[in-house]
Amino acid sequence: MKETLIQREHEVMFQNYRRLPIEIDKAIGTEIFDKSGKRYLDFLSGIAVNALGHSHPRIIKAIQLQAEQYLHVSNFFYQEPQIRLSEMIKEKSGMDRVYYSNSGAESFEGAIKLARLWGNEHGKHHMIAFEGGFHGRTYGPLSLMNKPLYKDGMGPFLPNMSVIPFNDIDALRKAVNDDTCAVALEFLQGEGGITHADPAFVTELMNLKDQYNFLIIADEVQSGVGRTGSLFFFDKYLIKPDIIVMAKGIGGGLPLGAIVTTNDLAKLVDKGRHGTTYGGNSLACAAGIVVMEELYSGVMANAHEMGCYLKETLHAIMDEFPDYVKEIRGCGCMQGVVLSFESAILVEELLKNGIIANSTAVKVLRVLPPLTISKKDVDEFASGLRQSLQTLIAMGVSKG
Ligand SMILES: Cc1ncc(COP(=O)(O)O)c(C=O)c1O
Repeated sequence: MKETLIQREHEVMFQNYRRLPIEIDKAIGTEIFDKSGKRYLDFLSGIAVNALGHSHPRIIKAIQLQAEQYLHVSNFFYQEPQIRLSEMIKEKSGMDRVYYSNSGAESFEGAIKLARLWGNEHGKHHMIAFEGGFHGRTYGPLSLMNKPLYKDGMGPFLPNMSVIPFNDIDALRKAVNDDTCAVALEFLQGEGGITHADPAFVTELMNLKDQYNFLIIADEVQSGVGRTGSLFFFDKYLIKPDIIVMAKGIGGGLPLGAIVTTNDLAKLVDKGRHGTTYGGNSLACAAGIVVMEELYSGVMANAHEMGCYLKETLHAIMDEFPDYVKEIRGCGCMQGVVLSFESAILVEELLKNGIIANSTAVKVLRVLPPLTISKKDVDEFASGLRQSLQTLIAMGVSKG
């Protein structure tokens, strides 16, 4: 008998991912189909990548057209898709310049280098980030993260980096000084359990920035590209960081990351100082243009509207299961359901009910649907969630 994909994967690939037991056949819109024809509602969207859902016809068309012109030519050349996408990002972000990479980690890594260039010019050498933050798996980002699972046995890491408690104003005041070069944060932590920065914490951060003159690096890899109903999550605080790190949604399913910043900072990176072979690949940028066009043609408004409906629905579920659902966090298409028990078991149960979501921060169910979801999708998700909770409660899951 022919071996399954699961069996074959076990033989030849690193066993570093906790894969769901689904052998993918195809994915369309908010749906994923496995090889047996079983349909799943996808409320994970490739970990916040498929902002427009799967197989969006305009993305496919844009990739096809671009592929017929050229795939890869390298950054030795001027390319319409890169430049057009940068113009759109510039206009909508109010920033000046864009640098492309291939992933979140690579963008964050570049942002660290940019901040170091600035810091070295200003005699500032220390960087700060926050517990619960996730910035990627290369050494720069890891040096600004503190989760043992990602770091144990892999040191040494970069010097002059501190990771301090999130939303702790006193800890922040103690940590920053004249040597602070940059403070990096997700204003809405994804891996950290869908936890937002308290407005008072952000106000203090901005006051300290005025006092000590350091850069703010906003990691919008997960929360950006319209996911929370605004282009960036930090937009909700009416502040402006110095460097924005993007990835995931901007490529519409193709690998694309970006650093977005001011003229003054961008000019520190002169010819040859930083770069990449693939960054800004023509197919990824062609897809990115469609993502940006769709965001501003109703998709971002839909993420906001459906996000409000999802939040109301999740609150109703919390009222129905008060001993087991403790809190609803986040907004738009990035929400977290805080449970009294470990969320991994709920993810498994949801899967049996044909729903894909994800577990994070041990007890948080992370809900990351495409930005294109409908009321019907939210209702289907809610009914699967109710059913799964009932089953787990009948099985005696902990009230915590
Ligand atoms: C906030 C944040 N930053 C950075 C990254 C790293 O992105 P990538 O996996 O594309 O390297 C992630 C990935 O989940 C993320 O959520």
